[in-house]
Amino acid sequence: MKILVTGGAGYIGSHFVKAAIEQHHQVVIVDNLVTGHIEAIHPEARFFMGDIRDRTFLDDVFLHEQFDACVHFAAHSLVEESMRAPLLYFDNNVYGTICLIEAMAKHHVEALVFSSSAAVYGVKEEMPISESAHETPANPYGESKLMMERMIRWAEHAHHIRYVSLRYFNVAGAAEDGSIGEDHFPETHLIPNVLQVALEHKPEIIIFGQDYETKDGTCIRDYIHVLDLVDAHLRALEYLHAGHRSEIINLGSEQGYSNLEIVHMARHVTNKALPFRFSGRRPGDPKVLIAANAKAEKILHWRPQRGLESIISSAWRFHQRFPSGYQGGQR
Ligand code: UFG
Repeated sequence: MKILVTGGAGYIGSHFVKAAIEQHHQVVIVDNLVTGHIEAIHPEARFFMGDIRDRTFLDDVFLHEQFDACVHFAAHSLVEESMRAPLLYFDNNVYGTICLIEAMAKHHVEALVFSSSAAVYGVKEEMPISESAHETPANPYGESKLMMERMIRWAEHAHHIRYVSLRYFNVAGAAEDGSIGEDHFPETHLIPNVLQVALEHKPEIIIFGQDYETKDGTCIRDYIHVLDLVDAHLRALEYLHAGHRSEIINLGSEQGYSNLEIVHMARHVTNKALPFRFSGRRPGDPKVLIAANAKAEKILHWRPQRGLESIISSAWRFHQRFPSGYQGGQR
């Protein structure tokens, strides 16, 4: 297949591109490199640098290439930033998706795999969370992802674009050889922050909250290896290619780890002491987030293959290879 990947220089996008090329797909990347990295762009992918909100640019890309499908990763994805600058999220994420759908409709590209998020659910009491749970996003990031999903649904009605929206839980890990991985600035996610302490770039891990009603008082999350995640995207593409109907599907493991369990596993993987201290709760953090994943198994025949140790070991290999990120800390 010839696939357009928006955000193909980003964390998840770059891992998808690598896996797609390994499966002999032709890949074209569009990325504005605002949060993506030129170093993460696969040498065998064709790359157009630009912003999906630039309609002329996007139209040109679609004119040059005849795509069989799009995989849409390009978006801002920091919850806390979205609380401070909500319009940035609606502009980049929602308006960007309008432009993409418009170009797909105009150029008759009728299959879309969309990078959605567990953030569309908001705070839920019932675990695990299934796709039928009512969506009540608790921040503009989650709201923007829900709006994007809904626009895509209406686009199917009007423009015959079939889609699979994949709602990710906590994604972590890196390519097995550590050649690409997670490099955000600022870094807000737990696992890369823990590994920065292992690299001695930070003196200690700060754990947000120790008084949650959980087994050890810290929050619980459902972690999924980025390689398992991108495998689900390839399956979603095949599923659409086979002519099946649109779906919304969770990607998670149905297993939760507490923040303290992450620190313990990282100690085991890195063989370092990894000091930590507790601070207050981070606003907006749900106590527990665990995915129901039966639908992914039923529809995509997908189950995560890699556990927490493999997730943290692969991330550690990336961090050791790029201790200050792709650009050696230069930004
Ligand atoms: N945490 C710490 N210390 C840190 C970083 C995180 O204690 O330095 C804690 C958080 O408070 C939370 C847990 O680790 O309890 C996981 O936090 P992350 O930031 O790694 O991930 P989130 O669960 O906040 O975010 C994930 C996805 C988002 C999505 C969100 C939905 O990464 O894209 O779930 O709530 F929006």
